[in-house]
Amino acid sequence: SAADLARAESLIATIPDFPEPGILFRDISPLLADAAGLRTVAEAMVAPFAGTFDVVAGVEARGFLLAGALAVASGTGLAPIRKAGKLPRPAGSVDYALEYGTATIEMSDDLAPGTRVLLVDDVLATGGTLRAGQQLLEQLGYALAGTAVLMELAELGGRDVCGPVHSVFTV
Ligand code: PRP
Ligand code: MG
Repeated sequence: SAADLARAESLIATIPDFPEPGILFRDISPLLADAAGLRTVAEAMVAPFAGTFDVVAGVEARGFLLAGALAVASGTGLAPIRKAGKLPRPAGSVDYALEYGTATIEMSDDLAPGTRVLLVDDVLATGGTLRAGQQLLEQLGYALAGTAVLMELAELGGRDVCGPVHSVFTV
């Protein structure tokens, strides 16, 4: 319900000047710790995609916090998208830009070709991370069923970078 969602959103803490001066950090830990809040947002993240995906892929690290809950809530599997150097058998790799420098994400090819994947993360900021995730899924021959985040930071324009995204909360 709208009240459940409003309550869940109220559990996200906004911390000024972390990790650097001028940055407003969104801490979802209090929300994750709340049983009703976690269930509410897990269901809200997958709701528009019900029945259209086989696997939830979360982006390390904070995407992992949600991906397992979403997979169980939707009766699907889970696939990790990892930061470079963690997987024993990476089959695909995409570099993306950070504010300073670059990062790389990798994924295994454990899924059957054409598997329908819901790509998820905690926050959409500039969109670089989710764009890279989309490219990685495409590189490996999986079908992108959709992209979902808990929270979108709208002023950063990430949606222009990674296309349609379902965000439960927009700030
Ligand atoms: C954060 C957040 C998103 C990403 C969003 O991850 O969890 O994944 O930034 O930013 P973007 O839209 O500008 O790409 P980060 O790489 O900081 O680290 P973590 O998830 O490993 O904590
Ligand atoms: Mg992240």
